[in-house]
Amino acid sequence: MVVLVTGASSGLGKDLVLRLLSEGHIVYAAARRVGRMRELEAAGAVTLKMDITNDLEIVGGVEQIIRDQRRIDVLVNNAAYGQWGAIEDVPMQAVRRQMEVNFIGTARLTQCCLPHMRARKFGKIVNVSSLGGRCAFALSGWYSASKFALEGYSDALRIEVRPFGIDVIVIEPGAMDSEFRAIAAEEARRYSADGAYANLVTAIRTSSAWRRKLPPPGAITDLIVKALKAKRPRARYHSGASGGLILFLKHVLPDRTFDRLIMKLMR
Ligand SMILES: NC(=O)c1ccc[n+]([C@@H]2O[C@H](COP(=O)([O-])OP(=O)(O)OC[C@H]3O[C@@H](n4cnc5c(N)ncnc54)[C@H](OP(=O)(O)O)[C@@H]3O)[C@@H](O)[C@H]2O)c1
Repeated sequence: MVVLVTGASSGLGKDLVLRLLSEGHIVYAAARRVGRMRELEAAGAVTLKMDITNDLEIVGGVEQIIRDQRRIDVLVNNAAYGQWGAIEDVPMQAVRRQMEVNFIGTARLTQCCLPHMRARKFGKIVNVSSLGGRCAFALSGWYSASKFALEGYSDALRIEVRPFGIDVIVIEPGAMDSEFRAIAAEEARRYSADGAYANLVTAIRTSSAWRRKLPPPGAITDLIVKALKAKRPRARYHSGASGGLILFLKHVLPDRTFDRLIMKLMR
C-alpha cells in the first residue's frame, strides 16, 4: 500500500514508518525536520518537508505522492504536540497553534487526500488521538480539547466516507516514550511554573507517575498495523490494559469521583 505518515521525525511516527517499510509498503514520511528522517530515507522511505500548519506544504506533499504513485491508500495523521499548562495561563495564541497543529492541519491534510481515495473507492485514515482525547486531565486541558475535537470529527467522517470504501480508525495511546513528554513539560513550565497553578505543576512534575519510565511506542505501532490489516477495522483502538481500565472507569464512575481518582494517580 502507499502510506503517508505525518510526524515521522520522532517517536511513534518514526517507529511506524520503519515497521511499514519492513512489511513492504511504499511509505512517505512527513515532518518539519527532514534532517531527522535520514534513517527513514536510508530504510527506503520518501521524506516530505511538511509543516502541518502550512497549506502549500500540505497540498504540495499530496500532489507529489499522486504524481509518483497515482494513489494514496493510507493516511496516518500522527503529528501533534502537547500544549501543557493551566487553562487560565496558556495564551490564546498558543491555544490557536495547538488547535492548528493537532486538529485543523490534520483535517486539512485529510481533505486533500479524500478525493484520491474516493476515486479508487479505497482508503484508510488513521487518526492518532490519545487517552487524553477521551478523558481530560489537569494541565493538559488544551491538548485534550484538540484531541476531543479530533475524536468527534472522526466519528462524523467515518459515517460520511464509509460509502466510498474508506475506513476511519482512531488510535488512543497512553503515555509512551518519545519527545512528547519533554515538550509538554517545558510548556507547563513556561506558562504555569509560577503563579496560581505552580503547586499543581510541581506536584505533577515530581510525581512518580510523571517520572516513571515510559514504554517505547512499539505496542502502538502494533495496534496501528493490526488495524490496517483488519478487514473490518474497529472505529477505535486504545493502548493496553491500563488504558482500557481508565476508559472503563471514566464510563462507570461519576465525573467527580473519576477526577479524584485521576488526581491521586497523577500525584
Ligand atoms: N507520547 C505520548 O505519551 C503520547 C500519548 C498519547 C498520544 N500521543 C500521540 O501520539 C502521536 C505521536 O506523538 P509522539 O509521542 O511520537 O511525539 P513526538 O516524539 O514529539 O513526535 C511528534 C511528531 O509530530 C511532528 N510535529 C509536531 N509539530 C508539527 C507540525 N507543526 N507540523 C508537522 N509535524 C509536526 C514532529 O515533527 P517535527 O517537529 O519534525 O515537525 C514529530 O515528528 C501524537 O499524535 C500524540 O498526540 C502521544
